[in-house]
Amino acid sequence: MASSLEQLRKYTTVVADTGDFEAMREYKPTDATTNPSLILAAANLPQYEHLIEKAIAYGKAHGKDLEATMDYLFVLFGCEILKIIPGRVSTEVDARLSFNKEASMAKAKRLIEMYAKEGISKDRILIKLASTWEGIEAAKVLESEYGIHCNMTLLFSFCQAVACAEAGVTLISPFVGRIYDWYVKSTGKKVYENGFDDPGVQSVTRIYNYYKKYDYKTVVMGASFRNISEIKCLTGCDLLTISPSLLKELSQENGFDLRQSLSAEKAKAAPVEPDLRKVTYDEARFRWELNEDEMANDKLSEGIRKFAADAIKLEQMIKSRLEKA
Ligand SMILES: *[C@@H]1O[C@H](CO)[C@@H](O)[C@H](O)[C@H]1NC(C)=O
Ligand SMILES: *[C@@H]1O[C@H](CO)[C@@H](O)[C@H](O)[C@H]1NC(C)=O
Repeated sequence: MASSLEQLRKYTTVVADTGDFEAMREYKPTDATTNPSLILAAANLPQYEHLIEKAIAYGKAHGKDLEATMDYLFVLFGCEILKIIPGRVSTEVDARLSFNKEASMAKAKRLIEMYAKEGISKDRILIKLASTWEGIEAAKVLESEYGIHCNMTLLFSFCQAVACAEAGVTLISPFVGRIYDWYVKSTGKKVYENGFDDPGVQSVTRIYNYYKKYDYKTVVMGASFRNISEIKCLTGCDLLTISPSLLKELSQENGFDLRQSLSAEKAKAAPVEPDLRKVTYDEARFRWELNEDEMANDKLSEGIRKFAADAIKLEQMIKSRLEKA
């Protein structure tokens, strides 16, 4: 029998979840992502020093403007990744802009312009935004008016997913393992004998079914897994992004008869009650629903804080280099 990974690939596009250039060469993911923590880690390696130097030189030529230097650094790393992968690279909008629609849009447009100057068209870029109300509103305009594709992250709740679909975003990447982590911490329950009871798996299943039932085009890319059981329960999801270690485990598991859990046909046939009722959210209702979901609220805030902390760390490193330049 084929390995679990081979079976999974029949139903789902599998993407290696790694920011490491060497691992990208090995696993050849279609798409990949960059973010401040990955860049910070790479920045300490001699083989990427030339990218830092190029960004510093650019900053120096632009009045030592820290923000412009940072933006250019992200773009340079994105371009480097695009040399390795055939698909798209996600580039993050600074998490500190998560509650500012206009500033998020301006940042996204600036990044796309910078990519264009490097000869990269916007079809190969996904702008990554936090799934706050403002982030989703920014994505809606970016997609509809500028043809800029967005990858909505820090997505933990159904209301965020519905708002993203209504905004017509290209892709969402709901986090499975981080939801599981929250429930482990708050309930102490670690084992779900039936993997389908895992709250992270349930969240993505509901979102997937809702999207397919109502023909939303937004693509669902499940992310952040704690073990292969969670992955197998989501067989059939549009895309799954999986760490190299779990990919290896899946490729080494033989003799498991993997069944497709998610499909558009099943979603169409699924009962509307209790949780696939068609809903729509205005701002007040969205904020209310999100606030009612303690897990999503906690994880979203925590995620924004962590992304911001990483951005600040990278910024400090670049700032001190820029001063010396
Ligand atoms: C979208 O962003 C997530 C992080 O939230 C990342 O893991 C994923 O690789 C990105 N997807 C694509 C297609 O770039
Ligand atoms: C994998 O994670 C699930 C949650 O989805 C948990 O119930 C299960 O015990 C874990 N299995 C292993 C082998 O760690």
